[in-house]
Amino acid sequence: MPPRFMLFEYSELNPAFRDNPHTLLDPQRSARPVEHDGMLPAVLITSYAAGREILRDAHLSRNFNNAAPNNPVIANVRRLNEAVEAEFGRHDSIVTLDGADHTRVRTIIAEAFLKRAAALQATVARIIAERLDALTGRDSFDVVADYAAQIPMRVLGALMGCPDATLDDLKRWTEAGQLAFDPTKSAEQEHLALEGRRGIFGHFRQLMAERRTEPRDDFVSDLLAAQARGAPIDDNEILHNLFAVLVAGHLTTADLIGNGVALLLDHKEARDAILADPGLIQPAVEEILRHEPPISFTARFPKSEGAIARCPYHAGDALVVSLIATNRDPEKFDDPHRFDITRRPNPHMAFGAGAHICLGAPLARMEGQMALLKLFERFPNLRRVEASAPEWRAVPGVRGLARLNVATG
Ligand code: HEM
Repeated sequence: MPPRFMLFEYSELNPAFRDNPHTLLDPQRSARPVEHDGMLPAVLITSYAAGREILRDAHLSRNFNNAAPNNPVIANVRRLNEAVEAEFGRHDSIVTLDGADHTRVRTIIAEAFLKRAAALQATVARIIAERLDALTGRDSFDVVADYAAQIPMRVLGALMGCPDATLDDLKRWTEAGQLAFDPTKSAEQEHLALEGRRGIFGHFRQLMAERRTEPRDDFVSDLLAAQARGAPIDDNEILHNLFAVLVAGHLTTADLIGNGVALLLDHKEARDAILADPGLIQPAVEEILRHEPPISFTARFPKSEGAIARCPYHAGDALVVSLIATNRDPEKFDDPHRFDITRRPNPHMAFGAGAHICLGAPLARMEGQMALLKLFERFPNLRRVEASAPEWRAVPGVRGLARLNVATG
């Protein structure tokens, strides 16, 4: 095979990939389930077995500093991180820590986060009901901007302790950062992404100072209390993990809701089945996550050379696991392109795998299930306005809709 810029061809920057990634990924998986890019220090992994093996390999690093410097996608993120580090200290969140440090910090963050998330059911229900009330009476709306993207930041604010008055800023700042992995972004977009990060870090630095003198019933206070009791986590690590949780929890969950509405609008039999038996929303959300995973790829970085499925890699190569592809691998899922809300078991990889598996999965599931069920209960006649296929956002690493206009009657 001649060398190819696979990292671009198989990314959301390619319009053909956005429209239907599977016309490219299916033949790739059958012919070369693990393949070196040839032009860039990257390997594309499309089979379920190899993808899972990579994500569960504890010898591989998650730290972008272990990526080869000539990877244009990673270089972008590193530039942003370095600018933030100059102002807010070392970039130490569980997203990028490895080994014993990852275990140490994740244990502390997870204990506080999962307890808070489990107690959030009534809050999530209230936030969703408020959004639905605001939409009731309208003939049409954009599911993405007016509904899906309005829920997760409010939920995160309630969990973390961010005042309501800051939520619009936090949402805007987080959304400005979604192009972090886009090497084609303009200088203006790069500036906004950096300003967004500065805004979020500044907000949490202030919140930590306030909660230290006056603790409240929230996640920030929980982490400071754990530290005061002797949990091995420093201020910098708390700050960077607050950033990580906020950023990881907003657009991902919004895209789960948006993708879910689109799929259920296109599959009337599934929608009717859920309305007749609301318990079906649980397997339906798993199938939505499998069918259209909001994070389209994740990566690991080897510190020395090796091979996977006979494909050699070098130290610093980005081992890019396409979650869109692994979730439709026919070796793992029968009739993988069929949307089947009764599919069981459904061991999709939308939340990754191994030590870095998504921390927020229980919260995302709760929000997704409730947001979808309540929307279709409130608007049983919801239908698409446009006949054409919806437009996907051109954001590398993200599988989410740009908009989804619906009519309510
Ligand atoms: C449907 C929504 C979501 C999806 C699809 C998703 C997906 C993912 C994926 C693919 C990873 C990387 C896993 C890996 O590389 O093995 C991840 C990590 C993570 N997610 Fe999520 N996520 C979602 C929602 C959330 C929420 C709501 C939160 C928190 C509020 C969250 C917090 C995190 C954190 C902190 C990590 C890093 C964990 C670590 O590296 O140890 N995510 N997520």
